[in-house]
Amino acid sequence: MLASRKQAISNCQLCKLWEGRIKLVYGQGNPDANMMLIGEGPGAEENKTGQAFVGKAGQLLTKMLKAINLEREEVFIANIVKCRPPGNRDPEPDERQACLPYLLEQIEIIQPQILLLLGKVAGNTILETQLSLTKMREQVFLFRNIPTYVSYHPSALLHNPQWKRPAWEDLQKVRDHYFSLSAKPK
Ligand code: URA
Repeated sequence: MLASRKQAISNCQLCKLWEGRIKLVYGQGNPDANMMLIGEGPGAEENKTGQAFVGKAGQLLTKMLKAINLEREEVFIANIVKCRPPGNRDPEPDERQACLPYLLEQIEIIQPQILLLLGKVAGNTILETQLSLTKMREQVFLFRNIPTYVSYHPSALLHNPQWKRPAWEDLQKVRDHYFSLSAKPK
């Protein structure tokens, strides 16, 4: 299901980001994942490989997951936009809106029991709010009935190591929630 959808949209031109595309980054991981992580958009390495979070930020994300006893393969990792914004700028509102139905479809197929939104762009887009990251981190939202956490984007942590401690506090909450669920059938 996910593979056929990925194939179907690989030549998407719904927004201008297709112009810089080498590979569309559909997202990858466990199609039956209990948790889905959503970042912002592909960087240079992701554009080349077609895989989400494989550059420096991705390596940190892998470590963050390991720190809460998760392997990348257990979760599903995607982004708000599936094609690289030039120079890694934030995806613009029209680009986010054009790409959003693809992500919503993925959420419907995967039916995760937890969402973890990485960074302000992911939080603001999915939760349809203008709240700051600080405010979004303070609560657990329900998005389509799915408990939804917002935390720092790994790229932000690479540039601001002082945020690693609060990020770790967020991750511990996510871990406790995740491991309280994963024994339950879907
Ligand atoms: N940053 C993101 O938000 N997503 C990626 O896939 C890589 C870097």
